[in-house]
Amino acid sequence: MILTTGSAGFIGSNFVLEWFAVCDEPVINLDKLTYAGNLENLASLQNNPHHKFVKGDIGDAALVGKLLTEHKPRAVVNFAAESHVDRSIHGPEDFIQTNIVGTFHLLEAVRAYWNGLPAQEKADFRVLHVSTDEVYGSLAKDDPAFRETNRYEPNSPYSASKAASDHLVRAYHHTYGLPVLTTNCSNNYGPYHFPEKLIPLCIHNALAGKPLPIYGDGQQIRDWLYVKDHCSAIRRVLEGGQLGEVYNIGGWNEKANLNVVHTLCEILDELSPRADGQSYKTQITFVNDRPGHDRRYAIDATRLERELGWKPAETFETGIRKTVQWYLDNQSWVQNVTSGAYRDWVGAQYGA
Ligand code: NAD
Ligand code: TYD
Repeated sequence: MILTTGSAGFIGSNFVLEWFAVCDEPVINLDKLTYAGNLENLASLQNNPHHKFVKGDIGDAALVGKLLTEHKPRAVVNFAAESHVDRSIHGPEDFIQTNIVGTFHLLEAVRAYWNGLPAQEKADFRVLHVSTDEVYGSLAKDDPAFRETNRYEPNSPYSASKAASDHLVRAYHHTYGLPVLTTNCSNNYGPYHFPEKLIPLCIHNALAGKPLPIYGDGQQIRDWLYVKDHCSAIRRVLEGGQLGEVYNIGGWNEKANLNVVHTLCEILDELSPRADGQSYKTQITFVNDRPGHDRRYAIDATRLERELGWKPAETFETGIRKTVQWYLDNQSWVQNVTSGAYRDWVGAQYGA
C-alpha cells in the first residue's frame, strides 16, 4: 500500500487513476479538498476496494501519524500543495501554510513512523516529494534548460514556497536519513486540470464565447508535459530512484503561450467550430502581465532517461489534441467546477 496526498487535485487524481490502470496495490488518498480538490475526479474509483479517501490536512501530523500506523504504507507520495502562481500573488499565506509548514509536519509524522519500522521495511520505505521546475527561476532565451544541479532562484511566492519544501525534504535525508526522492517537473496539461490555469481556462472561455486572456506579449515560454507522462515518471522514480536524489521531469516541448493558445484554437475550430464560422483566435485578448512573470522555463530531463530509462509517450501535438477532446467530452465536469468560488476568482483576477 502507498499513501498519496493531494490526490483529489489535477496531477494527484491522474496519478491514482493511472496507478489502478497498471496495478491493484492499495492507495490511501489524503486530501484537504481545497477549491482545487475535487472528488468527482476520483468518481470511477468509488467502488474500488483498494482506494480509500481520507479528507484531511498534511499539516495535521497526528492524523498523518494515525494513517501511517494503521495502514503501514511502503511509500508516501506528496502532491498536496497550493499550486497556482496567480493565487500566490493575491494571497501568499496559504502557500506558506501548506507548502512549507504542511510539508514540515508531514515530514515529521513520516519520520516518526519510519524510525519505528523493522529494519527491512525501513530500508524499503520511500517518500517521494513532487515539485516544480519553477524553483529554478527564469531562463533567458539562449540559456541551457534546467538541470538538477541548477541553483534555486524562485521568483513567486508559489515557487519560493515549493523551493522551501524541497529544502526541507533534502534536509530530512541528510540529517535524519529519511529515504526521500524529489521530482521537479515542468508545466503539466491534460484531463481534470482546474480551469484557472492557461490551457483549461482558454478551452473553457473559447467554448463560452469569452476572451482568451494572454498576459503581456504572450511570448513567455513554458515546457509542457502531458499529465499521464508525469505520472509514469513518478512511478519510475519511486521504483528505481536513488535515495536523496533529484530528478527533473519534462516533455522537451518548449512553447510560447501565444502559440499554445493558437494551437488550442485551431483544434477547437476543427472539432467544435463556432456557429458564425469565425476562428476562436478572434477571442484572444492581451491583458496586463503577471507581476514578476518568469520569461522562460525549460527542463533537461536527460538524467531521468539515462538512469531510469524514462521518456514521455506523448508529443505536445498528440497530448493537446487528447486534452481538448477530453474537455469537449466532459463539459459537465467543467460546469461543476466553475461554480461560485471559481466565478469569484475569475471576477477578482480578470474583472477589471
Ligand atoms: P492542484 O492545485 O490541482 O491540486 C492540489 C491538491 O492538494 C488539491 O486536491 C488540494 O485539495 C490538495 N491540498 C491542498 N492543500 C492541502 C493540504 N494542506 N493538505 C492536504 N491536501 C491539500 O495541484 P496540481 O497541479 O495537481 O499539482 C500537484 C503537485 O504537483 C503540487 O505539489 C505542484 O506544486 C506540483 N507540480 C504541478 C505542476 C503543474 O503544472 N500543475 C507542475 C509541476 C509540479
Ligand atoms: P499557468 O497555467 O498559471 O502556469 P504557471 O504560471 O505555473 O506556468 O500559466 C502558464 C503560462 O500562461 C504563464 O506564463 C502565465 C500565462 N497565462 C496567461 O497568459 N493568461 C492566463 O489567463 C493564465 C492563467 C496564464
